[in-house]
Amino acid sequence: MTVKIDHLGVAVKSLAAAKGIYEKLGLAVSAEETVEHERVKLVMVPVGESRIELLEATSDDSTIAKFIAKRGEGLHHVCLRVPNLEAAVEKLKKDGVRLVSEEIKRGAGGHRYIFVHPASAGGVLLELVEGH
Ligand code: CO
Repeated sequence: MTVKIDHLGVAVKSLAAAKGIYEKLGLAVSAEETVEHERVKLVMVPVGESRIELLEATSDDSTIAKFIAKRGEGLHHVCLRVPNLEAAVEKLKKDGVRLVSEEIKRGAGGHRYIFVHPASAGGVLLELVEGH
């Protein structure tokens, strides 16, 4: 029943350019995946037990495009892996924690996720996924 850092999400203008530093460090960068409903494409870079997720917008109305327009490239979210996502979300809702969306969504590779609003997480956008 441990919570771990699943990945750190980084908003970038170009996956091709941004992944270079990780390749130079000898890390294996995944193939590109697209998440249509979030209007992003991404690569994952495994680093030890965790990963770095590089996110590039596929459209100007993508949250990643808006983030970069406002704040520039950089750390976009921190993702925690929890043992039971439903139970965690239920507890957060009961405690009045602000979520970005009310329902759990499905992302790249079919994993389920939800975002906690930065207003409830010390200014950090917090993604939650399920796993051990
Ligand atoms: Co993420």
